Amino acid sequence: MKITIFGSGYVGLVTGACFAEVGNDVLCVDIDEEKISRLKKGEIPIYEPGLEDMVIENSREGRLKFTSDVAEGVAYGLFQFIAVGTPPDEDGSADLRHVLSVAESIGRHMDDYRIIIDKSTVPVGTADLVRDKVLSVLAERNVSIDFDVVSNPEFLKEGDAINDFMKPERIVVGVDNPRTKELLRTLYGPFNRSHERFIAMDIRSAELTKYAANAMLATKISFMNEIANIAERVGADVEAVRRGIGSDSRIGFPFIYPGVGYGGSCFPKDVQALERTARKFGYDSRILQAVEAVNHDQKLSLVDKMRDHFKGDLKGKTIAIWGLAFKPNTDDMREAPSREIIEALWSEGAKVRAYDPVAIDEARRIYGERDDLELLEHPDETLKGADALAVVTEWMVFRSPDFDVMKSELTSPVIFDGRNIYNPDMMEQLGFTYYSIGRLP
Ligand code: UGA
Repeated sequence: MKITIFGSGYVGLVTGACFAEVGNDVLCVDIDEEKISRLKKGEIPIYEPGLEDMVIENSREGRLKFTSDVAEGVAYGLFQFIAVGTPPDEDGSADLRHVLSVAESIGRHMDDYRIIIDKSTVPVGTADLVRDKVLSVLAERNVSIDFDVVSNPEFLKEGDAINDFMKPERIVVGVDNPRTKELLRTLYGPFNRSHERFIAMDIRSAELTKYAANAMLATKISFMNEIANIAERVGADVEAVRRGIGSDSRIGFPFIYPGVGYGGSCFPKDVQALERTARKFGYDSRILQAVEAVNHDQKLSLVDKMRDHFKGDLKGKTIAIWGLAFKPNTDDMREAPSREIIEALWSEGAKVRAYDPVAIDEARRIYGERDDLELLEHPDETLKGADALAVVTEWMVFRSPDFDVMKSELTSPVIFDGRNIYNPDMMEQLGFTYYSIGRLP
């Protein structure tokens, strides 16, 4: 099948590469010409395991192509995916400018039936706005061409996106007629194996499904962070509680790990956007507001512990930070807890020596050269002369460090573990002062 994908960012590229991988002809369109010329050379603008090989291989086979020519994109595919960004605007609502500009281009250049598919995370009602935009441009052109609009949210996790796309747990498709539904079912056939994963529904429900999924997961995390905070105060161990509740299949083990709060480009933005949508429709969502507020405080909980440890004064202290990305296996630092932590440390007069396996360049891009930030090439280098270590992202390489080196390099053996990756008993035996999230010391 012939597929056009607008937006060669994270979602667009993964979607394009995976559709090509199963034999479709895919044209990826982006108005950023530099990005397109780099992609044509096989240079991937983001870090995502497995993506580069897949893009290079499918480009070589001629199934995956790139262009910055929007008209060429509209002419190409029966399926026109919109996978452009929906950044939050000033009040936290999703900004639909890019989505509607693609809709406008499709209306401007189409001369045959097209299926327009919203892949970007967009508020309920966006499919109607896309339809209205296309209709108004067609009316301007004084032509009448048939088209359909579909909502097909993605559930990819950064760092595991290829796997999530190739072996989805569910394929959610919002359609308003049986013919489009069957075309989408055929398109997703290669990914819909072993048992039925295709869930068709009306368009607004599909749009809401995406927000509900992210909001539910974010709620689980904020809930668990509150339990951790309660555990600390009552002298209980959140790790034991986590095992205790996760074993109830109605609760389950995934996404109940307490930590320094959720980050990334999805949960913070989507929880806010859903809250704003609810408000716009006259509903005050107290749960979503609380999820957001708890997460904000949680990002700073490690700094609170540091302040307590250093008797209220972080001025002149040097803190080693392990992990800058919002989670492992990505270089994405959007809404990353590391940023709130680093900025809070700076505002209290502390210095930071940081390491991350892949996000160092991203940190340099965000913060530039500063006297109070050193970005280093090896985790051990961050420890030299630092007053404490803070573990902020649970990268695999941090899980079994050389604790002797750690002790000899730090000015005093203090660890603030924001991801609960070390064993408190062992840390005590090794002579560390060890703080973690919600566990018994
Ligand atoms: C999330 C969803 O998991 C995807 O299903 C969805 O498609 C995606 O958003 C999106 O809307 O595009 P992602 O943001 O890539 O994916 O990352 P997650 O793996 O979900 O992690 C989000 C945050 O939650 C991270 O900061 C992580 O550290 C935190 N987290 C996760 C916890 O603090 N505790 C947990 O138990 C799990």
